[in-house]
Amino acid sequence: MPEAPLPPTSPLLEGLLGRASVPPRQLRDPAPGPEAMDRAVAAALRAPDHGGLRPWRFVCIRGEARVALGRILAESLVAREPETPPARLEIERDKPLRAPLVIAAGAAIRHDRPGVPAWEQEAAAAAGTMNLLNALDAMGFGACWLSSGALRDPAVKRHLGFAETDALLGWIYVGTPEADRPRPARPEPGRYWRDWSPD
Ligand SMILES: Cc1cc2nc3c(=O)[nH]c(=O)nc-3n(C[C@H](O)[C@H](O)[C@H](O)COP(=O)(O)O)c2cc1C
Repeated sequence: MPEAPLPPTSPLLEGLLGRASVPPRQLRDPAPGPEAMDRAVAAALRAPDHGGLRPWRFVCIRGEARVALGRILAESLVAREPETPPARLEIERDKPLRAPLVIAAGAAIRHDRPGVPAWEQEAAAAAGTMNLLNALDAMGFGACWLSSGALRDPAVKRHLGFAETDALLGWIYVGTPEADRPRPARPEPGRYWRDWSPD
């Protein structure tokens, strides 16, 4: 079978090949404003989306709102693990303060569409979140996708305006990297793909 010649590289491809997370503590002001958020979310909305259900939901938490989020996270941790020592609770409370912007990335799940199972809707929202990360990186911002048990806490979802049936996929910490970010080498791609032929 004839193979296509390797197309020339492009700024988009080079951006994808270089994206890397920035740890929250290395993120400073300025965070993306409304226009940059619009752009990043427009990229998220380019993710594949079975049934056109548009599950992407991004909630931005900035400034003093991060203090309130910290309280909510600490309350959630106590509710889930009542024996948590105070020092650990303080760490939980301070987590959102590590970066100027925390984005709660979620998926609004439709349960009335049996042809599009919930995991596919979450996959579409996760693919959108990845596009958002790539777009933020391409605009010079740094970001890091983190998780925690609070993502599955209905009280946390409620506080942030999500429905209990929605899925919270992660906390995206965003800001401007304090220094030129490292972009560590990745494994050899050939280990992660192969051609298949029937026996
Ligand atoms: C759904 C999801 C949840 C994640 N949660 C965490 C986390 O809680 N803690 C963590 O250190 N990394 C977490 N990561 C990984 C980081 O976002 C990041 O990918 C990792 O630090 C490696 O950096 P890189 O993106 O430059 O490869 C998560 C990634 C995904 C996709």
